[in-house]
Amino acid sequence: MLSTSVLAVAACFLVATFFRQALSSPLNKLPGPWYARYTSLPLKWHEFSAQRTRYVHSLHLKYGSAVRIAPNEAAFASASAVKEIYCSGGSGYDKTEFYDLFKVYGRRTMFTTLNKEEHAKRKRMMADRYANTNVVREPSLTGISERAARFMQKCRESTDGVVDLFICKLLVSHTHDLISTEQNPDLHSYAFDCVTHHLFHPYGADSLQNVKDEDIMREIAFDDSLQNRILDYYNPILHKVLGKLLYFFAKPRETPLADDFVLGSSAAADPAPFTLLDRLNGQKLEHLDIAAECLDHMAAGIDTTGDGLCFLMWELSQPSSAGYQQRLRGELLANTGAAFDKLPFLDAIVMEGLRCFPPIPMSLPRYVPRGGRNIDGFFLPEGTIVSSQAYSVHRIDETVFPDPGTFRPERWLEQEGDAERRRLFFAFANGGRGCIGKHLALAEMKMLLRAVYSSFETVPDATTTPQDMEMSDQLISSRPQGQKCLLRFDPAQ
Ligand code: HEM
Repeated sequence: MLSTSVLAVAACFLVATFFRQALSSPLNKLPGPWYARYTSLPLKWHEFSAQRTRYVHSLHLKYGSAVRIAPNEAAFASASAVKEIYCSGGSGYDKTEFYDLFKVYGRRTMFTTLNKEEHAKRKRMMADRYANTNVVREPSLTGISERAARFMQKCRESTDGVVDLFICKLLVSHTHDLISTEQNPDLHSYAFDCVTHHLFHPYGADSLQNVKDEDIMREIAFDDSLQNRILDYYNPILHKVLGKLLYFFAKPRETPLADDFVLGSSAAADPAPFTLLDRLNGQKLEHLDIAAECLDHMAAGIDTTGDGLCFLMWELSQPSSAGYQQRLRGELLANTGAAFDKLPFLDAIVMEGLRCFPPIPMSLPRYVPRGGRNIDGFFLPEGTIVSSQAYSVHRIDETVFPDPGTFRPERWLEQEGDAERRRLFFAFANGGRGCIGKHLALAEMKMLLRAVYSSFETVPDATTTPQDMEMSDQLISSRPQGQKCLLRFDPAQ
């Protein structure tokens, strides 16, 4: 009897404490749905069902650029908030434990270091390898153009057929019969070959021509571990308890071929001088740390560039973009001798593609530092999780991006508002922890688009629907929901 009363009193105390905290939180001043004061379950549910980005965006549309999304979490979509969260003091606020999910070989890499001092130390070791000057010179550039040429060769072989840009080993005729199980010119293979060239040359991969290498790429690119990893993040104990049982409902991330490939390639003592491996070999790092760093960059460079290109080429293939293809081809053919980064319309196409379809569209979570901070007029106590997501940053301010849902590359050619547009461009994030591979990614994208649209016109194949191309969130990147993207490549007239 006594123990029941004690339990009842304890329960009342807990409930009272819960409501007292919820009702007195400084975050209550932020706009947002009423339930975000009390629970993070709706947010977690949307994460679990691969819809976090759209959910957060719907809250921005309803409540504005600052919104509370959970009891201890707020999202922002303004340029001033992005500057404060990601750029203050150089590299912005520290990352949250969400990034623990990306540890490789049990090691922390530059991407997964949480505090900025450790991050800066690691970044200094390798930043020069990703500087534009190192990317746009030989033999780095030749490596990319050779791989673009291989991709084109594959496209030529399937000229009167249909190419699935998203998935390999599918080559179909106009009647959609499978005509070959030969490798398809998949964009992930292209991105994989390019990034491993930059990491390991001459020990990079050749998945556009070699089926074994393609299998390695598939392990990284076609990963279905979202739910498993989210459970691990939010409830590691439950994740452990469920153990193998979980395997039947939510696959874990398993990449044995990729692990072996990187352990082997990163053990080479004589990589080319422009590579990341060459730079890391000269540092005081254990082999496993070097391998982890390389594996991390390899994974970071496949889905992002591959899916970014995939969404962009799909959009360019729509009837509404026929004029853009024509204008792009005009620019390319009139400037065959020009450097790939001196073509304004090609640049505008890539910028608009990354604005409309940012390969990492979702929140990049950070902790508010000691003492708390004011963001866009709201005080946030220390330890609050804050973030911005490219998908919303690229859409919410219609004075900067009018008609934000429409693919309109020419907006990047207008003088007026140029600085504001670039300030709100968040596809590669911003500040010291923004994408180190940005110049490499842009070179890969532009060189591939130049190769394709100098020779081909692309149109969508009827087997891929707009719904297939809806954005589906993964742990940090997004991919087409239907996991396919079939285009027809016709020789350009
Ligand atoms: C279009 C292609 C790409 C996009 C849109 C992209 C986007 C991003 C974004 C948004 C971040 C910040 C993530 C965060 O804060 O959580 C990031 C970081 C990073 N990216 Fe990329 N990325 C691309 C291609 C690449 C490539 C080709 C590499 C190859 C090396 C790469 C390597 C990295 C690394 C190592 C980081 C961590 C940087 C750090 O912590 O300092 N990315 N990327």
